[in-house]
Order: sequence, then structure tokens, then C-alpha cells
Amino acid sequence: MIQLFRVSKYFGVIAALKDATIRIRKGEFVFVTGPSGAGKTTLLRLMFGAEKPTEGQILINGINLGRVGGSRLDFLRRQIGFVFQDFKLLHRRTVLQNVALASEVGGEKWTTTRKKTHQLLRAVGLTAKEHAYPLELSGGEQQRVAIARAMVNDPLILLADEPTGNLDPEITRDIMILFRSINLRGTTVVVATHNKELLRNTDQRVLFLQNGMIHE
Ligand SMILES: Nc1ncnc2c1ncn2[C@@H]1O[C@H](COP(=O)(O)OP(=O)(O)OP(=O)(O)O)[C@@H](O)[C@H]1O
Ligand SMILES: [Mg+2]
Repeated sequence: MIQLFRVSKYFGVIAALKDATIRIRKGEFVFVTGPSGAGKTTLLRLMFGAEKPTEGQILINGINLGRVGGSRLDFLRRQIGFVFQDFKLLHRRTVLQNVALASEVGGEKWTTTRKKTHQLLRAVGLTAKEHAYPLELSGGEQQRVAIARAMVNDPLILLADEPTGNLDPEITRDIMILFRSINLRGTTVVVATHNKELLRNTDQRVLFLQNGMIHE
């Protein structure tokens, strides 16, 4: 499902990722952890095709990211949900629209879109805020909109970058249950976090990054 072969990513002289070989199978749930600046965001962005590797190959669903472009890459990306560390919400759209738009772009029927949008907003506890604009929300609320948006298409792969960074323990637990449920329905889930609490009692696979080097 997600394969990296000897992938390195340099920003100038900084090696954000060094010679990483990783294989994540369909339906796996994997945590990526490590200190700030270790390369977690870079790794997720590479998997999404938002960064090009300096060296090495990345295959998503058997498709080599280095060999596709344009519409095929767009098609592939629509099957990946991404929770950005900085949310990237559309500020001129309401909470409801932010989530629904991602579904409409995926070509979903409006009735399905509306149903799933409401379902997810309920799951992340934001029903009361569906007509608010992102800048009227707290950081944690914006983060939950980003999570709902990433999940609305039932993506094959969910990449979540520090998805609980702004959330209190109770909501964090709810979000993790939500990730587990989408994972149990078949979505491959990769969560980057430096939240040790999330990792403490987990039986999930954990990839540890330090200075761009990966350890299982
Ligand atoms: N666009 C960029 N240009 C230059 N350097 C970058 C860029 N993106 C990342 N880096 C560098 O690559 C390294 C890894 O950054 P990355 O954002 O992947 O770390 P991270 O593990 O996600 O950190 P954090 O926990 O703080 O989010 C850092 O040294 C960072 O400064
Ligand atoms: Mg990061």
C-alpha cells in the first residue's frame, strides 16, 4: 500500500529524511514519532506526493509517485485523506462547507455528502458549530474540522500530522477511537505525533524518527 525504497529528502544541506525504507500494508495502523524537526511531516508529505524525494522511490498502491503526474496524481491524492499540522482550512467557507467540499470534489452525490458530513461533525463534536467560520473557532475545533474533512471521502489512506496537538485528553481519546473505526473499515492509517500518551498503551506499530533516520 505504502512503500518507500531508500528515500532521502534534503532541504539544502539539511537531511529531513535519510535512506528510509518502509513498507506499510493495507489496513495497517502506524504511528510515526520522534522529536520536533525529526522529519515526521516531511515523511507524510512525501507519502502524499506533496514533496518529491531527493533520492529513492515511493509507491502508493503500486503506483510510483515519481512516474505519475497531473491527473493521475490528483486521482491518487483524492484517495488519501490528509490532516495537516496547520489544518489548511478554507477561511471563507463554513465548517460544514469545508468538510462537504472535500466530498463533492471526490464526486460524491449531495445526499451522501450531506449525510456523511453531518455524521463526521457529530463524531468530532462540532455539530453546534457547523455554520461557523474557521477563524471563529478555537485551535482544537479547527483541528477537528480538519480531521472530519480528511475522513469524509472514506480514503484508502489517512495521513494525520499531529492530529491531536491542540486537543485535551478526552477529545484526543474520541479522535483516536474515530481513527480506529475508519481503520477497522479498511483504511490504512498513519499518525505522526510526539504525544507520548498516545503511544504509551498502544499495541500499534511505531516508527521512530530521529534526525531523519527511521527505526522501527
Ligand atoms: N520546506 C522546507 N525547507 C527547508 N527545510 C525544511 C522544509 N521542511 C522541513 N525542513 C526541515 O526538515 C527537518 C524536518 O522537518 P519536519 O517538519 O519534517 O519535522 P517534524 O518531525 O514534523 O517536526 P515537528 O514535530 O516540529 O512538526 C527540519 O530540520 C526542518 O527544518
Ligand atoms: Mg511536523
